Amino acid sequence: MSKNAKALAADIRAKAGDAPVQIGFILGSGLGHIANEVDGVAIPYSDLPGFPHAGVSGHNPKLVIGDLEGVRVAVFGGRAHYYESGRGDAMRLPLEVLRELGADRVIATNAAGSMQANMPTGSIMCLSDHINFSGLNPLIGEPTDARFVPMKDAYDPAIRTALHAVADAAEVDMADGVYAWYSGPSFETPAEIRAIKMLGADAVGMSTVPEVILARFLGIRAAAISTITNMAAGMSDEAISHEHTKAMAPIGAAKLEKVLRGYLRGF
Ligand code: HPA
Repeated sequence: MSKNAKALAADIRAKAGDAPVQIGFILGSGLGHIANEVDGVAIPYSDLPGFPHAGVSGHNPKLVIGDLEGVRVAVFGGRAHYYESGRGDAMRLPLEVLRELGADRVIATNAAGSMQANMPTGSIMCLSDHINFSGLNPLIGEPTDARFVPMKDAYDPAIRTALHAVADAAEVDMADGVYAWYSGPSFETPAEIRAIKMLGADAVGMSTVPEVILARFLGIRAAAISTITNMAAGMSDEAISHEHTKAMAPIGAAKLEKVLRGYLRGF
């Protein structure tokens, strides 16, 4: 663990209390709202040296530590994307801090485009696996043998099973599927979407994959849920824009929140 992560964790504990954090959430575009529902202490990223600027509109760039459904959580209200800085490891420090605060699980959320007609705008998808279509890796440059991270079952089977059980119990329709990471920031071409669909992806987005690789590297169990904000390029006449993503994210976000809260209640 980096010295910086240890120092930041100590600083965060001084502000938010010593009780160990049980789980972290990373919130995607238009999904920042749940950060406001935690009963706890909010620390702007700008007060956490080395944290990303999270300069993407629709994000809520603060770390909130506190209680949600009786579980001690750390909610990252915004994330850094590869496309902002050209750094694949931009979320390494926040994840190191999460580990240092005691969490052994993280659930990432994101907005994504769908390649499946039966997974329309407003639906949610639990990631079963991913395809790193960007070819980038957040562990490039990591000097230790720990860099050779196994990625089978990277999306923790036990957490996924629990998330699906909660969704079923709450009568929330949650699909299961493969997410392809495309670097962005431009959206995909229809030809790229046809290609990744053929390769086995069900949804596409510009985040999450580097965070899941980093989480596994740090020994954190990972899961992720996409909210579908549009059909992917060429799949429909629906608009594809960041404005559209932010406008559509709240539809899936309501379902996502039910699943996340239900999961916490079962802790
Ligand atoms: N592609 C990539 N990222 C996205 C999309 C998309 O269609 N929708 C929301 N985020």
